[in-house]
Amino acid sequence: MKKISIAIDGPASSGKSTVAKILAKKLNYIYCDTGAMYRALTYLAIKKNIDFEDEKALSKLCLEHTISFKQTEKEQLVFIDQIEVTEAIRQPDVTNAVSIVAKHGAVREKMVELQQAIGRTGGVVMDGRDIGTAVLPDAEVKIFLVASVTERAERRFKENQEKGIKTDFETLKKEIEHRDFLDSTREVSPLKQAVDAVKIDTTGMNIEEVVTAIEAVISTEV
Ligand code: C5P
Repeated sequence: MKKISIAIDGPASSGKSTVAKILAKKLNYIYCDTGAMYRALTYLAIKKNIDFEDEKALSKLCLEHTISFKQTEKEQLVFIDQIEVTEAIRQPDVTNAVSIVAKHGAVREKMVELQQAIGRTGGVVMDGRDIGTAVLPDAEVKIFLVASVTERAERRFKENQEKGIKTDFETLKKEIEHRDFLDSTREVSPLKQAVDAVKIDTTGMNIEEVVTAIEAVISTEV
C-alpha cells in the first residue's frame, strides 16, 4: 500500500497525540509529536535560565542540542541529547511557557527543518499546530481536530490526575484558552485550519470514534 503523510492539527488537548499514536501504530508509520519538540526546547530554556523572549538565544539552543524520539512498545520517549525528558516536558512550568518560546520565527524555522526531515522518511503521522499549513503542506491527509474547551480541560484534568500532576480544573481551562489564544494569534504559522483539511469536532466522541472518522478520510487516499 502507498505510504502517505498524515497531518493532524488542532488546539491544545484536542486529542491529536492520542489518535495520532494509535493511527501510526495501526499503519506502521512513524509518529512525530511536534509539540514535544517545542516543549523540549522550553524545558532547556528553563534549565538554562534563558529569557523566553530572547529569540536569538533560543534558536542558538536549538543548534546546540539534539531533540530526538525513541519508540518503545508502550510509549514514545523524548530525549534532549542523551537525557530522557518525556515526563519533565509535560509539567506545568513547561506547558505555561511553551507558546511564548514557539512564537519566534527563528525557533520555528529550525523546528520545521527537523520535522520536514522526519516527514521525508515517508509514512508519517505528525501532529501539531502548523503541520497542514507549513510543515507538510503537501500531506495527502490533513485533519483539523477541535473540541469544546470544557471537554478539552476535562480530558487534560484526567490525564494529569493519572500522572499524579495536581491541577485545579478552572485554572487548567483558563490556561488552555490562553495557550490557544497565543498559538492562534502569533505572527508566524499561527494555529489555523489548512484550507484542504477535514475538520472533525470530537466533542462527545470517544477515541475509537475519532480514529474511525480519520480512517475514513485516509481510506480515500490509500
Ligand atoms: O501539542 P502540545 O500541546 O504538546 O504543544 C505544545 C505547544 O507547542 C503548543 O501550545 C504550541 O505553542 C507549540 N506548538 C507549535 N507548533 C506545533 C506544535 C506545537 O507552535 N507544530
